[in-house]
Amino acid sequence: MARVSGLILTLLLIVGATGLLSSPAMAVDGAALERGEQIFNSNCAACHMGGGNVIRANRTLKISDLNNHVEAYTSTPLEALEHEIEDGLNAMPGYADKLTEEEIVAVATYIEQRAELGW
Ligand code: HEC
Repeated sequence: MARVSGLILTLLLIVGATGLLSSPAMAVDGAALERGEQIFNSNCAACHMGGGNVIRANRTLKISDLNNHVEAYTSTPLEALEHEIEDGLNAMPGYADKLTEEEIVAVATYIEQRAELGW
């Protein structure tokens, strides 16, 4: 009996701990997405309004273009986006000096999510 209640206690502790761990993680994620949207609207939307591309029409932020044109997107989507945003490419300006690392991660996360959802 003692062993059974010990097991139940252990299970309760695991459930409790994962519950505690998952809620702040989700809150951070939601906040990062909101932050990413703000950064996108003030820095990127001029050229990428609605996930499009006003300068180079076949380089949109839609999943098919990202898959076809962003280096390493198919293997590491978030990192691939971060690199392109940091370094820029042709007429796409680089943001390494304009945005912090955290802001670049936030805006890349936002783009990745919107691309998954189809903008
Ligand atoms: C001055 C216009 C302009 C602004 C502002 C701009 N971009 Fe771009 N972006 C481009 C152009 C042009 C390309 C295509 C580059 C190429 O492949 O030649 C591009 C490409 C991209 C790509 C790859 C798309 C693909 O299908 O190849 C991503 C991702 C991207 N931009 C993200 C961003 C983010 C995030 C911001 C804001 C922080 C931003 N861009 C701001 C013009 C811009």
